[in-house]
Amino acid sequence: MATKDKTTYTCNECGGTTPRWLGKCPHCNAWNSLVESVAEPASGGGKNRLSQAKGLAPSAALTVLSEIQAADVERTPTGLGELDRVLGGGIVEGGVVLIGGDPGIGKSTLLLQAVDALQRTGLSTLYVTGEESGAQVALRSRRLGLEQSQVKVLAEIQLEKILATLDSHKPAIAVIDSIQTVYSDQLSAAPGSVSQVRECAAHLTRAAKASGVAIVLVGHVTKEGALAGPRVLEHMVDTVLYFEGDTHSSYRLIRAIKNRFGAVNEIGVFAMTERGLKGVNNPSAIFLSQHSQPVPGSCVLVTLEGTRPMLVEIQALVDSGGPSPRRLSVGLDRDRLAMLLAVLHRHAGVSCADQDVFVNAVGGVRIGEPAADLAVLLAITSSLRGKALPQGFLAFGEIGLAGEVRPAPRGQERLKEAAKLGFSVAIVPKANMPKKGDTALAKALEGMTLHPVERIEEAMDVVRGL
Ligand code: TYD
Ligand code: MG
Repeated sequence: MATKDKTTYTCNECGGTTPRWLGKCPHCNAWNSLVESVAEPASGGGKNRLSQAKGLAPSAALTVLSEIQAADVERTPTGLGELDRVLGGGIVEGGVVLIGGDPGIGKSTLLLQAVDALQRTGLSTLYVTGEESGAQVALRSRRLGLEQSQVKVLAEIQLEKILATLDSHKPAIAVIDSIQTVYSDQLSAAPGSVSQVRECAAHLTRAAKASGVAIVLVGHVTKEGALAGPRVLEHMVDTVLYFEGDTHSSYRLIRAIKNRFGAVNEIGVFAMTERGLKGVNNPSAIFLSQHSQPVPGSCVLVTLEGTRPMLVEIQALVDSGGPSPRRLSVGLDRDRLAMLLAVLHRHAGVSCADQDVFVNAVGGVRIGEPAADLAVLLAITSSLRGKALPQGFLAFGEIGLAGEVRPAPRGQERLKEAAKLGFSVAIVPKANMPKKGDTALAKALEGMTLHPVERIEEAMDVVRGL
């Protein structure tokens, strides 16, 4: 234990420190984000660090950018196609992946499946469990049908011992489940505190870079949806993945929100089954609720997250509210909903001022792209009027504050996917209409009636005439 502990306060958002507690972080201006932590006495390495700063340590030679050999990073596929898709092809030597998600969503399950698949290809793997005992991990592996698994398991939470094991066993990939349980003796702060999580993650990242082991850190998500611990964890690692999905439905989505080795916003789709997570190769229709008859308050849209178009049903319920009506959204941005309602009132003359408005994206999917705007408004007006949109109807397009309907990126791919699934009527932004001479596209969209619109009023008129 350090003898002269000096209490400081570390910001949960930016990782900055202050000597006193303040309501607002002086570095990033976030409110209520400072938590107590203990400043570490400059132990051992302190002097070295100082001498390096003075330039006594040899520094790397300067190199001209064009002369650096930029070898394409080699990736080892995990064998789980949907996970590889979000990782950008597979795990990378020395790469550090942070994977976050609600408790019970399937992080441990997925990673156990992934390391087992890698172990089978002949790589050496290590699964460090801090939350569960070895026996519990074994129990899960039986459930997954991995009785013969050769994955090495280490039930340990002390950083130094984990680092020593990494050093002695030299695995190709190590999973740390979870980073919040790991603590270091060198730090006097309590296990699980911000400074412990940050320091331990930094040590593990350094170990990964130095030895080439790929490390996957499992992180918990707070009530607010952010990875617990300082946001600096996200800056430190190469890839940040988030698990999404409704724990009541069997589908799970993994989204890459940062990836130094691949595209972001790519999503992988899994279904939780009795025997673990199974990839869903063709997820385009899983977020539809399959009503036998069209119902009011429902509108389908095609989203394009990453590279795959998916059809998602938006549901809205508009009901008479009290003096201060509520606006609630699940899977969609609430501020954007308020903005859309204002546009609807101002430009299309439809008022929801005395109504509660609830909107929901079916299946626990989260939609971040503005192309959902038009479908959200059509679902709302459909609920308000109690009139269902026709069978096989869909819409997409971004709505601007001036009431204009803007095109969605790669609109033709969206339309093709909808046509493939048998959708027959669509309201689309005018700029997304197929070009005159494009016969291949016209053939793909055969049998589909497209209504091009440029403004929200026009969309309302089209719906009235359907
Ligand atoms: P888990 O991987 O422990 O979640 P996390 O590590 O993110 O907290 O997943 C646990 C849930 O998944 C639990 O509710 C049981 C369920 N599950 C299945 O449905 N099928 C399975 O084969 C397994 C292993 C778990
Ligand atoms: Mg777990």
